[in-house]
Amino acid sequence: MNTAVITGASSGIGAAFAEKLAARGRNVLLVARSEDKLIAMCNELGRMSDIRAHYIALDLIRPDAAAHLFEETQRRGLVVDMLVNNAGFGSMDDFINLDLARELQMIDLNIKALVELTHRFLKPMRERQQGAIINVASTAGFQAVPYMTTYAATKAFVLSFSEALWEENREHGVHVMALCPGVTETNFFAASNMGRPPMRTIQTPEEVVDTALRALGQRKPSVISGWTNWLAVAAERFVPRSFVIKIAGKALRSQFEE
Ligand SMILES: NC(=O)c1ccc[n+]([C@@H]2O[C@H](COP(=O)([O-])OP(=O)(O)OC[C@H]3O[C@@H](n4cnc5c(N)ncnc54)[C@H](OP(=O)(O)O)[C@@H]3O)[C@@H](O)[C@H]2O)c1
Repeated sequence: MNTAVITGASSGIGAAFAEKLAARGRNVLLVARSEDKLIAMCNELGRMSDIRAHYIALDLIRPDAAAHLFEETQRRGLVVDMLVNNAGFGSMDDFINLDLARELQMIDLNIKALVELTHRFLKPMRERQQGAIINVASTAGFQAVPYMTTYAATKAFVLSFSEALWEENREHGVHVMALCPGVTETNFFAASNMGRPPMRTIQTPEEVVDTALRALGQRKPSVISGWTNWLAVAAERFVPRSFVIKIAGKALRSQFEE
């Protein structure tokens, strides 16, 4: 049974992916830690459309999580032809004040789990010469972001990793794409202990997912969601990197020093 695996599907952008893909007639396997939310979503998706909605409640920070998820899809007889690596979180403060264990967990989730899931699910896609992998990066991946130091660096990794894989795989029937949202109205800021979102254009998760699915149809290596976000990233190329970093630092400092 062809199925799209979506990590971080219990809220925000992941939940919007689940709804939009199910509405397009795709079977989905939802992954996150909150089992109650996943059960409610599977029931709702099953009611709304003629698809199979499965879930696995899993903490992807666990060292064995990616292997467990892959093996579970095989045990259930699912053919995974789409993987959305979306689960992630951030942090914001002076780096020396941040909890080191949490920063390392962020790397485990935003990078390690994403790399391992990509490797495990890509192989059978290549063998079948068919599939798509969407890795959720961020506009923060295009530049260093003081006070969101580790988070922005994890997203720079995801962007670079995904674009390189786009080229390696595009002639083998597998489309790998980085999705780069800007500030989006989700639980992200609360879950990342960041307080309120920075005052910039805020998109809805549905708008972000619509952009992603359109870009997937165009077989792009990466896509920035929202034209103001696109413009901001494009403008950064015309000024010195140090200028961009200082501006970002100033904006973020005022945010958490309030
Ligand atoms: N919101 C933004 O402004 C924004 C901007 C750019 C990029 N992004 C990226 O978008 C992605 C989705 O975030 P969001 O904005 O939709 O935030 P969100 O509403 O907080 O969603 C995060 C999802 O990840 C899951 N998750 C967190 N830790 C997990 C773990 N250890 N194991 C498994 N699942 C875990 C959460 O579910 P459980 O808590 O149930 O596990 C939730 O489903 C992230 O990668 C984020 O970096 C967000």
